[in-house]
Amino acid sequence: MERDNNDGNNEIEEEKEEELFKNDIEESLRESIDNLQKISIDKKRIRKIDESKKRAAIDSVFDERTIIQLNKLLTNGTLERIKGIISAGKEANVYLAYDRQGKEVAIKIYKIDSNTSKWMRNYIIGDPRFKKIPNNISKIIYLWASKEYKNLKRAHAAGLKVPEPIFIKNNILIMEYVGFGPTPAPKLKDIKHLKDPTIILREISIFIKTLYLDAKLVHGDLSEFNILYHNQKPVIIDMSQAVSIQHPKVEVFLVRDIKNIFNFFLKNGLKDLDPESFYYEIINETKKR
Ligand SMILES: Nc1ncnc2c1ncn2[C@@H]1O[C@H](COP(=O)(O)OP(=O)(O)O)[C@@H](O)[C@H]1O
Ligand SMILES: [Mg+2]
Repeated sequence: MERDNNDGNNEIEEEKEEELFKNDIEESLRESIDNLQKISIDKKRIRKIDESKKRAAIDSVFDERTIIQLNKLLTNGTLERIKGIISAGKEANVYLAYDRQGKEVAIKIYKIDSNTSKWMRNYIIGDPRFKKIPNNISKIIYLWASKEYKNLKRAHAAGLKVPEPIFIKNNILIMEYVGFGPTPAPKLKDIKHLKDPTIILREISIFIKTLYLDAKLVHGDLSEFNILYHNQKPVIIDMSQAVSIQHPKVEVFLVRDIKNIFNFFLKNGLKDLDPESFYYEIINETKKR
């Protein structure tokens, strides 16, 4: 290949530029993360703050590798901007971000935590999709995050209303955002007056059944806390713990999911609900197939 004589110089220039660009990104990433963690930034003061203290504050939620990974996503154009936090949970935080087309996406970042990784093992053990179970804390969390990605993929492929998963790397999951503009959709539990509870219950029942019969999964943590209400339709989220129907405890999970949902609708005024026959409807249908 022919090479321009100037190439050497250009390369040095490019490297310098890239370095500056990287520093820039790093700075804006740190600021984003400071914002995300609701640390108020006073730009003049922040320069005086001991760098290691600032670092420690970031590290309490995100480990170094997560920061590097987020940095990469911002540098390589996968993400344009991380706007702010939607939810701070025990196991994960969820953020609103924008992709390079300016479209909203939701980023779920799992925390690397040894207590979390302990109970996660119980859900992974017994699932035939996960034969090798790692000992390492980070690796269990990465496996957990990839489990959520795969479960969402399977549910989405079965035509169910879940956020479409877009990207997974280590403990970072990017998925379709559910909401209008910067306002994320409310959880079902926060809807004061459900317009048509019978229809919503029917839609959630179809979700449970199709997830079992077609996607061959059981959600395992289904309740009004993990259902968003968007465009007058239920959108089911939080699928990391969902298990394959081969899992030895699958029946316990299915019964629990059905009970949670039916109880919620009982509290919301529906009468004559029969969760038991709904359970048998699913089981009998499986035997027929
Ligand atoms: N794709 C999404 N779009 C909009 N909001 C979301 C999305 N995923 C999660 N959220 C919000 O973040 C909260 C926590 O997400 P969830 O997956 O339930 O994690 P966890 O309960 O483990 O903290 C949800 O209750 C919801 O308010
Ligand atoms: Mg949840």
